Amino acid sequence: MEILKKKILALKKEKNAVILAHYYQEPAIQEIADYVGDSLGLSQEAERTAASIILFAGVHFMAETAKILNPNKKVILPDLTAGCSLADSCPPSLFKKFIEAHPDHLVITYVNCSAEIKAMSDIVCTSSNAVKIVQSVPKNIPIIFAPDKNLGNYINQQTGRNMLLWDGSCIVHEAFSLEKLIALHKQHPKAEIIAHPESETVILETAAYVGSTAGMITHVKNSPKTEFIVGTEAGILYKMQQEVPDKLLIPAPSKEDNTCACSECAFMKVNTLQKVYDCLVHESPEITVPESVIKKALVPITRMLELSKS
Ligand code: 13P
Ligand code: SF4
Repeated sequence: MEILKKKILALKKEKNAVILAHYYQEPAIQEIADYVGDSLGLSQEAERTAASIILFAGVHFMAETAKILNPNKKVILPDLTAGCSLADSCPPSLFKKFIEAHPDHLVITYVNCSAEIKAMSDIVCTSSNAVKIVQSVPKNIPIIFAPDKNLGNYINQQTGRNMLLWDGSCIVHEAFSLEKLIALHKQHPKAEIIAHPESETVILETAAYVGSTAGMITHVKNSPKTEFIVGTEAGILYKMQQEVPDKLLIPAPSKEDNTCACSECAFMKVNTLQKVYDCLVHESPEITVPESVIKKALVPITRMLELSKS
């Protein structure tokens, strides 16, 4: 493992490549990454990088976003099957019909969607800026929000809006069990429940803090509390525990799983250190997005990045 890491670091330097990794990637990948972050941080980093090659250790929609921001750079993903159930829940042909049926609506899409869906959107958002972006739209303008109904419901509740929601969801965040969570909290009454907004409303209602992966890490770091039940993909625990070595972090329990208390995103976990190395050697698999889609999708992504600065 250490030899492989050294080889990746040397190759990265030789090829002027940057490795951007999401918090859900396995620890070994996070360790060799130049930057580890949430979807917004990763997009901002992709926008500012001077590297010639971007190796995206994450899922397909994240690498596509990096490509849209860098059409002249090579963007590579260790495994092209690293998809996302949420992105898959919004097929472009059906979404096109949906927005055509509501021509007076502004279209805001969560970044967890394909490049084609982004190309049909007015503004993109991530979990860390979604509330702020929706609040930037005057109240008299009706909004379509896609693809995550759980995040959409959360934003509606936070902003008092009534956005029209696409019926999509994330298999990992919908797997948390309210019953088991309540039982776990009884065993750890001092623990604070924190959750990602892709979780179901019943789970979010139990949470003292709701935010993106980066937001959750910052919250745990700054909080005077010493115990937390963490409602998001278990990969986050690696970085979070490094930030708060003396605090107790307990993964939120899922409905199906009786052997392990954690939820893992199978899509995120198809990337391995070996695949990162192979991908750098062959500069493949490469992410390609049609030029016409890049042109259209860049507009709502740029709007998001601009709105995130203020
Ligand atoms: P974050 O932007 O909060 O990291 O979320 C990404 C994601 O896919 C959550 O499932
Ligand atoms: Fe998609 Fe859910 Fe995996 Fe995030 S955790 S990449 S939303 S399937």
